[in-house]
Amino acid sequence: MTASDTSEPTRRDFLFIATGAVGAVGAAAAVWPFINQMNPDASVQALASIEVNLDAIDEGSAITVLWRGKPVFIRHRTAQEIEEARSVDINDLPDQSAENANLPAGEPATDENRAEKPEWLVMVGVCTHLGCVPLGQQGDFGGWFCPCHGSHYDTAGRIRKGPAPRNLDIPEYTFVSDTTIRIG
Ligand code: FES
Repeated sequence: MTASDTSEPTRRDFLFIATGAVGAVGAAAAVWPFINQMNPDASVQALASIEVNLDAIDEGSAITVLWRGKPVFIRHRTAQEIEEARSVDINDLPDQSAENANLPAGEPATDENRAEKPEWLVMVGVCTHLGCVPLGQQGDFGGWFCPCHGSHYDTAGRIRKGPAPRNLDIPEYTFVSDTTIRIG
């Protein structure tokens, strides 16, 4: 009986199988750039809006999502945080503009103008001084603190102390349901 009469693969069979496998990988690699070309390019993606489900964000906690390449803080505020934000005299604020993309420019920086629903504060998480990402629930006003040069924001994200010139920006967003927002 010769080797070719058995069901055992010969060395030649093995080489053939191996070559076929490499060919399949090569084909997959060639397909990817083609599929990738059909995706929107970076400039289109940068304009995209995102939807965020708020169900899992417990009161007193926050998440950070990425939107147009920037962090966006979504905080489920406590009653105390809301109360603190609402009791502030607007004349004590270095920046008295709401900085809210959903309102006309120059609207006053009341808490009501910063948070459409009091329990949900949605802000671009970029310090208005030189662009660091502030830390949550820190600083002298119980809101956010930017450790880069010491800017303190309150529980509505308004600058209260330090070099930052403006309140944290509120991005364009809308509630598409009670527990879902669309940013952008
Ligand atoms: S970048 Fe935040 S204080 Fe300078």
